[in-house]
Amino acid sequence: MIVLAIVIPLLTVAAVILILAVYQRRDTRRASRPRGASRRSRKAASPTGAPLSGREVERAAVLARRAADEPPAVAPPAEAPWVKPDEEAIGVSRRQFLNRSIVGFMTLGLSGFGASMLAFLWPPFVTGFGSVVNAGKVDEIKTQVRGENGFLKVPEGRMWITEYPESALPEAREVYSRDVLGGMESGLVALYWKCPHLGCTVPSCVSSQWFECPCHGSKYNQVGEKRGGPAPRGMDHFATSVNERGEFLVNTGKIIPGRPVGTDTTRQEAQGPNCIGQAE
Ligand code: FES
Repeated sequence: MIVLAIVIPLLTVAAVILILAVYQRRDTRRASRPRGASRRSRKAASPTGAPLSGREVERAAVLARRAADEPPAVAPPAEAPWVKPDEEAIGVSRRQFLNRSIVGFMTLGLSGFGASMLAFLWPPFVTGFGSVVNAGKVDEIKTQVRGENGFLKVPEGRMWITEYPESALPEAREVYSRDVLGGMESGLVALYWKCPHLGCTVPSCVSSQWFECPCHGSKYNQVGEKRGGPAPRGMDHFATSVNERGEFLVNTGKIIPGRPVGTDTTRQEAQGPNCIGQAE
């Protein structure tokens, strides 16, 4: 009796709990269904006509809510049709641009080439050796030569200037070229100070009044004609002339080879002791 008294209330309580749980579940399902959904609509939503499960109904309800929350789809704007650009508005078309570029580059290249050719053909602006040296007035030069014991050294033109005797001019006209005679006629000669033997700088010798090379002993008279030594010829001359103002011009860019061995237009013998050895 005591057992029954305990079991019966327990079973009753369990039955009540079970009934409450069943009802609770039914309420939950009802609440999760979309509004207005009925057994008939569930049947209609199933494509096969089979009744939908509770999970499917829930999914459908969720999708329906999302669809309601999503913003309406906006159609993308239609593309504008292509219209050919107005060349007048642009100013320069692509073809014009290419043509003008080609012409411009060709003009630039030809201009550069022309400038290079002009620079190549134009006489170079040279001073000193290699150019025409204006030594000054003839009379003044003669005074300077005498003041320097017969030999005027002009380092600017790497030359010696000496006097040429007027008495020797007739013979000189038969021996020397017009380039050299241009200065000789005025009584002056311009000699390249480089020895024609092996290139030493030839100094003057005041005592002998000759040029005497210290390297191998070649000797030349006062106008550069060979008097002794191993040199193959006389000293080289520069082309000379006298302009309308009476100035002695020496073209140091134009070297006239010295006269052959044996040339002696002035008959000038050594006027004193030689500076280098003895003349052969
Ligand atoms: S370099 Fe002048 S004599 Fe030889």
